Amino acid sequence: MGSDKAIGIFDSGVGGLTVLKEVAAHLPYENLIYLGDTARVPYGTKSPETVGRYAVEAAEFLVELGVKMIVVACNTASAVALDKLQQKYGVPVIGVIEPGAKRAAALTRTGRVGVVGTEGTIKSNAYARALKSFREDVEVASVACPLFVPLAEEGWADHEIARLAAAEYLTPIREGIDTLVLGCTHYPLLKKTLHTVLGDGVELVDSAEETARTVVEQIGVLRREDNGPGTTRFFVTDVPTRFERVGGAFLGNPLAGVKQVSISCI
Ligand code: DGL
Repeated sequence: MGSDKAIGIFDSGVGGLTVLKEVAAHLPYENLIYLGDTARVPYGTKSPETVGRYAVEAAEFLVELGVKMIVVACNTASAVALDKLQQKYGVPVIGVIEPGAKRAAALTRTGRVGVVGTEGTIKSNAYARALKSFREDVEVASVACPLFVPLAEEGWADHEIARLAAAEYLTPIREGIDTLVLGCTHYPLLKKTLHTVLGDGVELVDSAEETARTVVEQIGVLRREDNGPGTTRFFVTDVPTRFERVGGAFLGNPLAGVKQVSISCI
């Protein structure tokens, strides 16, 4: 069997490139299509209804391009719209919450897990629910860290300002945690800073990495059989200039040829 169709990955903007990077590293022969909804970013501060609508429009765009699987790279969209997308489309739809939660539930020894994410993700309680589904007795301490997104995009993930912000945000939840879930696309860029602030005793769980492992597990018969390198196409909903500049830094490779599209139905 096998399929040459692409895996579609979408996010509110540039952050989901952390997920794309991991998927490409695990499945270098797959064709990938990435959509960043840069005209409407951020999703993290918007209502679940609005994010749900945006997520459907993004998924619709990918389905029309004929993808064989959808990866919802955005934690906020995964938190509020994954079920809806899974019911609506005939292709597998993978979110980032369950993979990260599963890993954290397996890793924790103290049973107290920290979760950081956008306001929308934290308010939805999606990580806490997922963590408890894997380990009932787990205690979850979560906090929204909205400044991490602009800090990562500004290239200041390792800056003193990021360390101060991290120390401030984590103070209310750090007591007793031995595992911290990075529940936002941008946070893997802050790993070094978070490690400095929390020390060696706290394991950082990268949802992007865990999601890529889930994609590998679930691709099954859809796996591309041709062992020529896969292609990657990038689409955004606003002019691509900023996406190309910031995204290049996220990927560690220059980004060019990004196409602007319109996906909104309203
Ligand atoms: N991609 C979003 C997430 O992972 C972060 C940026 C935003 O707020 O849109 O939740």
